[in-house]
Amino acid sequence: MESYQIYDYDVLVVGAGGSGLRAAIAAMEKGAKVGVVSKSLLGKAHTVMAEGGVAAALRNVRSEDSWQVHFRDTLKGGGMLNNWKMVQNYTQEAPDRVLELEQWGAVFDRTPDGRINQRNFGGHTYPRLAHVGDRTGLEMIRTLQDHAVKLGLNVHMETTLYRLLTDGDKVAGAVGFHRNTGQFLVFRAKAVILATGGLGKLYQITSNSWECTGDGFALASMVGADLIDMEFIQFHPTGMIWPTGVMGLLVTEGVRGEGGVLKNSEGKRFMFDNVPDRYKGEFAETEEEADRWLNGDRSARRPPELLTRDVVARAIRKEVNEGRGSPHGGAFLDIASRRSPDYIKKKLPSMYHQFMKLANLDITKESMEVGPTCHYMMGGIRVDPDTQRTNVSGLYAAGEVAAGLHGANRLGGNSLSDLLVFGRRAGLSAAEYAGSQPEAAKTDESQVNALIAEALEPFKSGGENPFALMQELRTGMQKNAGIMRVEEELKAELEILAALKPRIWKAGATGGREYNPGWHTALDLRLMVEVAEAVVLAAQARKESRGGHARLDFPDPDPTFAKLNHIVRRTSQGLTVVTEPLPEMPAELRTIAEAKLVTAQGGS
Ligand code: FUM
Repeated sequence: MESYQIYDYDVLVVGAGGSGLRAAIAAMEKGAKVGVVSKSLLGKAHTVMAEGGVAAALRNVRSEDSWQVHFRDTLKGGGMLNNWKMVQNYTQEAPDRVLELEQWGAVFDRTPDGRINQRNFGGHTYPRLAHVGDRTGLEMIRTLQDHAVKLGLNVHMETTLYRLLTDGDKVAGAVGFHRNTGQFLVFRAKAVILATGGLGKLYQITSNSWECTGDGFALASMVGADLIDMEFIQFHPTGMIWPTGVMGLLVTEGVRGEGGVLKNSEGKRFMFDNVPDRYKGEFAETEEEADRWLNGDRSARRPPELLTRDVVARAIRKEVNEGRGSPHGGAFLDIASRRSPDYIKKKLPSMYHQFMKLANLDITKESMEVGPTCHYMMGGIRVDPDTQRTNVSGLYAAGEVAAGLHGANRLGGNSLSDLLVFGRRAGLSAAEYAGSQPEAAKTDESQVNALIAEALEPFKSGGENPFALMQELRTGMQKNAGIMRVEEELKAELEILAALKPRIWKAGATGGREYNPGWHTALDLRLMVEVAEAVVLAAQARKESRGGHARLDFPDPDPTFAKLNHIVRRTSQGLTVVTEPLPEMPAELRTIAEAKLVTAQGGS
């Protein structure tokens, strides 16, 4: 029998990115005893990869903005597949959450009259993104972390959770291990909040770092939580594509928000030819109009480079497929000819250094080469729109791992305010639930021992190299379930995953338990293959193109699927997909959502 250390909490928060920290703060303020588990180090989170800003209708740059316009933009960007109640809660609360962050010490860029400055981003009608140069996520993490530490944050760093523990039909904690020592840990908790972020590491080209292996989706599904909208994965249009060692690294949408334009190998601004019907009339139709917008003419409409990410990513892919790509298979992103070197260095300091250091390229003089990179998961754990409760008692989810807010496609900047609004809601509800439980959480020793034994199998199996298996998994997903999908490839991918699963479960690890990346990878893979299967099943079920899900064999949106969510659910036969109608939106909100906005938009 292996020994393990036990920790007792009212609320266990899994993940120390923005949503985890915001949830922990809310639960601590409610008086709950809170533990936070972080796979990595405190302060290192994918939240920092939302660089360009946090979206909220603060109305500091354009007084015409409102929660209603933000509501409409978010639904339109999400292909109307969003959970309307989440969008309403979100757009109404986001300004307060950003202002609260400022009170906690976040230092946002200012307007000339001293208010929080806001910049343009794709799909947002008005300049709406409060920002700190191009390091907004970083500043938010710093602020949340400082605030949480002041409140007495209890954090278990470099700790990976292997499984959630249950007591009857409710969640009772989790079992995991410390990555450095290999020591097993058991967390007993009345409520668990999953704030584990996304799944970018399922793909070869991604902006996500090593932690983003989709753990939360699988942990939740394995204890019976529903997953929803798993087919909707965001490929951010602008990742670095050269040099190959940094392929996928994010190039913030802030570059386009500050006036950057996309060009093909013929020097043409191809986005003018790629405005979808639903956005016709909302974007500039000529370079001359777009230039007037850049120069602050409020009667001009936004340039088409500020269309939503799904549209821009596919337009770049089309240019490449039709032979007009950049030398390394992407498009050119040019800010040098639009803004002065001083302006670029002031507004986009990280981008300037990133390209200088990694690509030996001066973005104040030359164009960047960019292409789509897997960035964000719109789908995830199904939650109640007010409380972030899942369908499993005691289990909550917030941030990227939770679904509903973004529908088929997320607008840039909406993730940072999502994690503030719903991180807080999750923390409050989980603390309240924990407070209502009369007894301390109980875990079953035999369940714990069986899971620990299972987690140690790689040391005995003598099986395949987990890094090679990881490579196989990611190659298949990139090729068969990536930015453009088609029935035969999705079917082939399901077969690939079915054949990979038993090999993954037998993957081997050599050496000891102290910091052993091979062992960690072998265990990550067991979760990743489940998540990959959920993505492919949902992608196969949606026989249309909408938002982040594009099918070559069904290239258009189909009204049959317009009001349907796909739910991926675990049964004794494995994962299955069922469809459910979207919750009906009240008539007064539908009027707001469907409002035609062809107003003047002007630059900031
Ligand atoms: O492009 C960016 O700065 C990313 C922002 C986001 O994903 O919200």
